[in-house]
Order: sequence, then structure tokens, then C-alpha cells
Amino acid sequence: MLARFVIAVFATLLVVAASNRDDVAAMLQQSRKDMEPSQLQMTQADSWENMALGRLMLKVKEECLSSTQLCLPALIEARHGVWPYVQAELGKELKPYEPRSFTADFASTRLKDEVCHGKTFFLLHVWKAVGWGAMQNLGKLAGTYQRHNLEAWHNDLLAEDCQNVSHPSTFTFVRNPLARFISGYAQLEHYHQEAMEHRKNFPPNPVLNHLTGKPGSVGRAKQFLDRFFVDGVLRDGHVRPQSKFFVKPYGSKCFLAVDFVGKTENVVEDWKRFLESQQCHVITQFNLTKGRHENSIGTKQALADAAEIGGASSFVELQSAAKESMEAQLFQGAYLRALCWLYLVDYVMFSYDLPRGCDHPHMLHIAHLANISVSDS
Ligand SMILES: *[C@@H]1O[C@H](CO)[C@@H](O)[C@H](O)[C@H]1NC(C)=O
Ligand SMILES: *[C@@H]1O[C@H](CO)[C@@H](O)[C@H](O)[C@H]1NC(C)=O
Ligand SMILES: *[C@@H]1O[C@H](CO)[C@@H](O)[C@H](O)[C@H]1NC(C)=O
Repeated sequence: MLARFVIAVFATLLVVAASNRDDVAAMLQQSRKDMEPSQLQMTQADSWENMALGRLMLKVKEECLSSTQLCLPALIEARHGVWPYVQAELGKELKPYEPRSFTADFASTRLKDEVCHGKTFFLLHVWKAVGWGAMQNLGKLAGTYQRHNLEAWHNDLLAEDCQNVSHPSTFTFVRNPLARFISGYAQLEHYHQEAMEHRKNFPPNPVLNHLTGKPGSVGRAKQFLDRFFVDGVLRDGHVRPQSKFFVKPYGSKCFLAVDFVGKTENVVEDWKRFLESQQCHVITQFNLTKGRHENSIGTKQALADAAEIGGASSFVELQSAAKESMEAQLFQGAYLRALCWLYLVDYVMFSYDLPRGCDHPHMLHIAHLANISVSDS
């Protein structure tokens, strides 16, 4: 009872703290779906331990969506909190690799007066979530855009934009965590293959270099998964949890909190909604063919098979035969459940429904606190 009261007070504080930024505030308050009545009464899950983990997840959501200095410590605590579950699913002991301080890259551009009152937009680039497409579309809107990368952050953004922008507005896009993970893996294999064949001027991926089996094979995808739980495959940005992109870099005097978080799955409508929220006069739709990376459907399918991800075909363009064979294995996917724990912060933070099969009672309890449910597809 006391715990419920504490959560209610905490939830109220969240809403108050965020009320000045419309979209993010809406995300913080959002009640997406009513849970099934059976999931509401989980006496087993009402222990202090997972109440604490649930509260921690909500804290991550609040701190990271608000881009505060507490985002990173909360993410680290959450990683330790889910780790026993990850280990239990994988059936082995692993050291938890902690989220680290990290500086995301941005694109910025000033829009013409007639398009958007001379406003400057900052686009936070969450990798593998329509990032390039959004940059290209931003470029089309404004004629040009600048990129601010990790190293040049202080020089670039501080001097040129930070103190000098009129009506800055920062936005980003996120994506279904599992779909993004599969797509991120396929992207890494694609880059690795290009490097091996000397088609691009960068070295082969040091981890993928040591995996055996053909890219696109289930055996290789399993090796990738095993390594992912050891070090996030060298903490690669393509598979890094999206919550981490919201970490405020230490020492940065200038950081623009994200005002608007759109979803890749809904990018055309969310793009329009963002521009409308900024009172822009724009009639051109988001162009979906801009800025797409090439990669292979076969590689995506191998990872989905390895993790026994049912229903993956609906979001990674897999063939329907593969979809059916995966759905048969749905309820025994230990990798899938371990992935759900590792990415739980993202599911909570961006209000994505959990995949079918991620139904540990403690996880359902946290999902209930966060107003998300388990997907039925
Ligand atoms: C969940 O929904 C309830 C009821 O609509 C709301 O009071 C609460 O703030 C929501 N919690 C979160 C974390 O969004
Ligand atoms: C501020 O903006 C003006 C007009 O766009 C530009 O000429 C100037 O260089 C900018 N100053 C800084 C410090 O970026
Ligand atoms: C969308 O972008 C592609 C690639 O840049 C381009 O070929 C196409 O004409 C664009 N479509 C529209 C409707 O602007």
C-alpha cells in the first residue's frame, strides 16, 4: 500500500516537472492502454524488489526524457537491476556492462522565415531509427543542414548554435527496440562485409571478424547475441539502447533537452505533428525513400531466428514462412526474454508494447506501472 502511494506521488511529480514541454510531457503522462484484469492482480510480483525496479524504470524515463544529469546514473542502476533476470534467462553468469557517458550526434539547421519563422531545429540522431532519413528531409526543408559529431561537439555546437539560436527546438525519432536491434545487427554485418571486400575505406568489425559461419546463418547470429550480452558488441551505436542517446554529456554547458520524440513506425504523421507544433508552414510530406541504408533481409532473418523472435516478419520484412516457424518457438526464446530485460528501459521510456513471449511476472508488473502491455502480434 505504502509502495503504491509512493509511486502515485512520484508519478505526479513527473508530470509536474515536464509540463513545459508538450510532447515529452505527453509521453510522461501517457496512459497507452488498459492492462488485462488478470495482469493487474499479481500478488507474486508485489515484492519490494520489483516495485523498486519498476520505480527505477520510471525514474529513467523521467530523467532521460528530460535530459537531466541523472539520466546516466539512473540507466546504470537500471542495468544492474535487470541483470539478474538477464543472467537467469541466459543461464550463465556475466558481468553487467554499464552504460557509459556518451555524446550523441546532432544535425541542426535554421529554417527560412517563410517556412518556419527562422527557427533553428536540432535533430538528435538516434542510430537505426530513421536518423538519416530525418536529416535528409530536414535538409530538403531548409536547403541545408550541419552535422555536429562527437568530437566537434563543443567547438561546433557551443560556439555556433547554442548561444545564438532563436527558438531552438530539438526533436528525435525512436523505433521499436527489437526491430531496431535486428536492423542494427544487419547493418553491422553489411558494413563488415563491405570492409572485408574493400568496398569501403574502413576496417572490418573486430568482433564480427571472429564470428564463424556465414552472415545470414542462425549460428552466427547466436554468436552475435552471446557477445551482445558481454559488451553490447563493443558498445556499438547501432544496437546501443536508445535511452542512452538522451544522456547529457558531462561538462557540456550547452545542451538542448529533447522537446519532441517521434516514432519511426509513424514517421510521416509524427513529422507533420512536429512541424505543426512549431507552427511551420509546410505542406511537403516526409519522404520515406530518403536516407535509407541498404542491408540484407537474410541477415535480419537469421538474427530473428537465433533469438526465436516470433512475429518479427511484421516489422523486419521477413517472409511469411519464416514468420510461421518462428511463432511456433515463441514461448521458449531465452534470448528474446533476455533482450527484453536489457532493453526494458527503452520499452518503458518510449512506450512500446513488449513482444509476445516477454511475460515474466515481474516484467509484466513493471509494464503495468509504465502503462505498456504485451503485443498480441
Ligand atoms: C499511467 O496511467 C495512469 C492513469 O492514466 C496515470 O495516472 C499515470 O501517470 C501513468 N503512468 C505513467 C508512467 O505513464
Ligand atoms: C549568430 O548568428 C548570426 C546570424 O546567423 C551569425 O552571423 C553569427 O556568426 C552567429 N554567431 C555565432 C557566435 O555563432
Ligand atoms: C523522395 O526522395 C527520393 C530520393 O531522394 C527522390 O528520388 C524522390 O523523387 C522523392 N520523392 C518526392 C515525392 O519528393
